[in-house]
Amino acid sequence: MGVVASAPAKIILFGEHFVVYGEPAIVLAIDKRAYAEVACLEGKRLHFRSANLNLAGSFENGVFKEEQGDAKEVKLKFEPVKLAVEKILKTYKKDIGLDVEINSDIPVAAGLGSSAAVVTAVTAAVNALLDLKMSKDEVFRVTYEAEKVVHGTPSGVDPAISTFGGTLLFQIDTGFKPLEAKTDIPLVIGDTGVERSTRIQVEKVRKIMNNYPRVIDPLKKTAREIVLRAIDALRENDLETLGVLMNINQALLYGIGVSDESLEWLINAARKAGALGAKLTGAGGGGCMIALSNSEKLEQVSEAILRAGGRPFKARKTDEGVKIERS
Ligand code: PMV
Repeated sequence: MGVVASAPAKIILFGEHFVVYGEPAIVLAIDKRAYAEVACLEGKRLHFRSANLNLAGSFENGVFKEEQGDAKEVKLKFEPVKLAVEKILKTYKKDIGLDVEINSDIPVAAGLGSSAAVVTAVTAAVNALLDLKMSKDEVFRVTYEAEKVVHGTPSGVDPAISTFGGTLLFQIDTGFKPLEAKTDIPLVIGDTGVERSTRIQVEKVRKIMNNYPRVIDPLKKTAREIVLRAIDALRENDLETLGVLMNINQALLYGIGVSDESLEWLINAARKAGALGAKLTGAGGGGCMIALSNSEKLEQVSEAILRAGGRPFKARKTDEGVKIERS
């Protein structure tokens, strides 16, 4: 039996895309988690299996062998965890083999940070198994480096929230700052089921930003003001204001072209069913939307999202970042 660690998924409550241009964003960890069990293996083989994706493969002496699933997909999906594990083994001079079993209840490629949560959980499990005494900051750094290789230049929001949990204010210049949130933020997340690429969405926004700077500048300022106002609303447990701000934020995201029909459909359904506010979360163009609701209307909002063709699930903020489940 190996060591089991888990790490949470995330949603971006406010500020996606604008964060790439230096504005602040608010991110929170939600109560959906990725789990990783890590055990030692004879030899130097690194073996990975994902129970939820039905994929398995191993790496030995630079050679990759798939065991379950399409070879290209297996290699691609396990690349970030492989990088993280190799980095740890190299840093701590451990010339050993490991068996890594992943199980996650986070939807994949939907903007909920599933990849970072998996890498964070694996990193923490390896750390505990080999008694390496890595701090949370070190776990974050390893995860961030692995994500960077795979995803280009991510802001680092996903690995940070998976590691530390809670609610974070993030800005490129100043980094992460924990935020006080009096509310546990009752949300329904609606998965459109439409997979999208963050990279493509970010490129799309870059074109608009470059071509129409004087038009976009006031939107950036509004995005910033939304976040600043939301910080107070979170502290004051003012769900109504948070809802209004989410709707304004959605209008900005629609304006820069990152919403789409599948998202708009679910957002409108949620608002009609009594949500206090609704918006896309993450890169947009598919993926997930989020709806904020008073507790008594959560079920109603969830049903409306389902009827509109989405996959809804209820979520709450969690303060628990990465943690060891069993050692
Ligand atoms: O959908 P996600 O979780 O990949 O979020 C992307 C968030 C962006 O602001 C669009 C990009 C970024 O790196 O912050």
